Amino acid sequence: MDYMKVSEIRKKFLDYFKSKEHFVDKSYSLVPENDKSLLLINAGMAPLKNYFMGIETPPSKRMATCQKCMRTGDIENVGKTARHATFFEMLGNFSFGDYFKKEAIEWAWEFTTKELGLNEEELWVTVYEEDDEAFEIWENHIKVPKEKIVRLGKDDNFWEIGTGTGPCGPCSEIYIDRGKGFGCDDPNCKPGCDCDRFLEFWNLVFTQFDKDESGNYNLLPNPNIDTGMGLERIACIMQGVESIFDIDTMKNLINKVAQMSNQEYGKDNKKDISMRVIADHARAVTFLISDGVIPSNEGRGYVIRRLIRRAIRHGKLLGMEDMFLWKLVDTVVENYKDAYEELTEKQEYIEKILKIEEEKFEETLDQGITILNGYIERYKNENKMILNGDEAFKLYDTYGFPLELTLEILIENGMTVDEEGFKNAMKSQRERARAARNEKGVEGWKNDMSGLELSVQTTIFNGYDTLYENTQINDIIKDSSLVNEINEGEDAILVFEKTPFYAESGGQVGDRGYIKGNNFEAIVEDVKKSPNGLFMHNIRMTSGTLKKGDKAELLVDKTLRGATQRNHTATHLLHKALKEVVGEHINQAGSLVNENRLRFDFNHFEGVTAEQIKEIEKIVNRVIYEGHRVNVETMSIEEAKQIGAVALFGEKYDSVVRVVSVEGYSTELCGGTHVQNSSDIGMFKILSESGIASGVRRIEAITGENVYKYLLEKEELLTEVKSTLKCNEDMVVPKINQIIDEHKEAIKALSKLKSESAMSRLDDMIKNAQEIKGIKYISDTFENIEDEILRKTAEQIINKVENSVVLFSNIIDAEKVSFVCMVSGLAQAQGVHAGNLIKEVAKITGGGGGGRPNMAQAGGKDSSKVPNAMDESVNILASQIK
Ligand code: ALA
Repeated sequence: MDYMKVSEIRKKFLDYFKSKEHFVDKSYSLVPENDKSLLLINAGMAPLKNYFMGIETPPSKRMATCQKCMRTGDIENVGKTARHATFFEMLGNFSFGDYFKKEAIEWAWEFTTKELGLNEEELWVTVYEEDDEAFEIWENHIKVPKEKIVRLGKDDNFWEIGTGTGPCGPCSEIYIDRGKGFGCDDPNCKPGCDCDRFLEFWNLVFTQFDKDESGNYNLLPNPNIDTGMGLERIACIMQGVESIFDIDTMKNLINKVAQMSNQEYGKDNKKDISMRVIADHARAVTFLISDGVIPSNEGRGYVIRRLIRRAIRHGKLLGMEDMFLWKLVDTVVENYKDAYEELTEKQEYIEKILKIEEEKFEETLDQGITILNGYIERYKNENKMILNGDEAFKLYDTYGFPLELTLEILIENGMTVDEEGFKNAMKSQRERARAARNEKGVEGWKNDMSGLELSVQTTIFNGYDTLYENTQINDIIKDSSLVNEINEGEDAILVFEKTPFYAESGGQVGDRGYIKGNNFEAIVEDVKKSPNGLFMHNIRMTSGTLKKGDKAELLVDKTLRGATQRNHTATHLLHKALKEVVGEHINQAGSLVNENRLRFDFNHFEGVTAEQIKEIEKIVNRVIYEGHRVNVETMSIEEAKQIGAVALFGEKYDSVVRVVSVEGYSTELCGGTHVQNSSDIGMFKILSESGIASGVRRIEAITGENVYKYLLEKEELLTEVKSTLKCNEDMVVPKINQIIDEHKEAIKALSKLKSESAMSRLDDMIKNAQEIKGIKYISDTFENIEDEILRKTAEQIINKVENSVVLFSNIIDAEKVSFVCMVSGLAQAQGVHAGNLIKEVAKITGGGGGGRPNMAQAGGKDSSKVPNAMDESVNILASQIK
């Protein structure tokens, strides 16, 4: 056995299976595509589920990959043990109804013993306890002594995706015996024992079942093979090291961390743990961001946020005060760029995201400290010493505040934390998260079409060049079953061998249009693609009867298609202009293109400014007016990358791609339909720019005739404004300003008038004063008058009339009323209190308020209760007078 680097093992594996006629595919993104049952890809087979299930046809019946994987279930153990990691690479060979147990076992053995050169003497295998077939192959075909073939139960030798649904089956595993020194004292120790002696490194799954949501194991149409060999594990064996952190790639990362933190690896166990955590997490977050995941508080975004914060915390434990995580990206890229070219392409972007997130965490860290100090003060006041688990967990969960840090600060204050309670709080949150995950279901990879015996296997799309096709009806699907005819008024799905109708994909909506025959007419309402690539035309019969085999004319609605195309080509121009104006880091995060508008989502961390929007509009319109030709070519993905075609983030492309370029301006990989010349777009106008999620912005825009309609609407609005203001366009703004000024003046004048009228009522009010236990009580109700005027009026009365009380109510509208009350010195001496009086009165109208003994104000809600309140005020006043 010779030392082999990680990259050498990876290459050897893929080359070996290539020689066994496997199609070697690149790793799929860590973000599952169309699979709602999974947050992140966690095994080599996960992105291939549809092939195992027979829902989609694989590019080849034999495939092999080195797949990026993430598992975070055991994150607490990462760094503490020799083999836990969050990110890892899984080598796998797969058969979709092609070879089965015999070849899978034979090749695994040959690769292990011949290619890797492992010593047969040291190898052991396990099989599922009931799997005599696999036992027999190992014993008689491979010639492994039967004492070294161990039968194990379902826990060990039946593989399925965690507790999830999907393809699964019995498995057989290959182990290496690391020698007695690693083991227990049991003389019968063998694979399956809990000790460290036997290390499993390759799992061969004989995928025969599909586990459904109810937990039933249904036989798959074909038996398949799914194997998985952890690259890090086999690298440990090939490099003669104990821990995955000692293999070449990880060692480079550890060294970098040690150098950055001025520490020596291998000196202090606690510090070593921190260094391992940082190395693992730096690698994981680099890969995640390169696949388009960005930090947030949900789903994948939360996974990455936790990893980043955990790494930063361990950085602090190592004494690193400045931002450091982004500096490790370079080392990750260096070590993995051979196999994952997206890392080099995205390096700058990954570093930027990490810097932003590190900065953000520094802020929450400060918030967390403030909150914790608050807790400490309260606990001290209550003479308590132990911070409860829920509060510690809140700090951890909301402010990303590590328990260790909480504890450290508590100890400085002579306190401690209820760690049990913290763990319980964490556990219940996990359970909630798990329950939420389980609720998600698996509709992502179920489909109505599976199981139907269609006469067409694939649809040829010729709608790039024509909007018309004369053909015949191949299949009619109604309510998920095949039928032979449908009648006027009915809905159905039609399938053709060839169609000019575009099926929804790449953000562009499906075409609409008509289908006509001798005896029928139908409208095409939408076209969607089945997972297998069939175009499903959703139609509604408008007349006659349509039969399977009928001749049919397919007509795409030219106006709608034209409008949609304008928006699609404009989307490419917008994407390019955004990169030019805002920055090269801008990447598409999603898009929607239909006949009405275009919607473009992209990664950016702040709003695009009004000036930038203007600039973008200007550039896109310039490219439109300049009249650039739009060219479409197909080429290999390598060629496309060479000419600088923009590929979408985290998207996986076939080896041959379609490249759409607006000559001299933008080049993008795209399967959509486009105008022939940029001038066909007519005009481009951005309607809005907004944030839709943390770090994701959205622009909505229109083109062509929609811009014209938009201008018409604006013009109509202006016309209406002009006619209302009775002025021409130039005068609109001055006129509005003039009106605003006049309005202000009028308000002022009105208020003066009201105040005068209040004053003029003064004498009458005094004359009508009630006498209550010797005190003069003056009350009145006003409407919509400034409180200031009321206060002044009341004040004047108090000054004029000795031994008096004044109460005014002021009705503002049906739901709002205010009160003012004033009490003279003599009246106060007799026990009258303005604040108390007004409080009682305001209460009757559903309000409240209060104030000093001499002067108070209050508000009420129900104006209809005012007369009642004013009547009642007499009694309230009387009860106050001693
Ligand atoms: N899917 C199998 C595993 O992950 C090979 O172990």
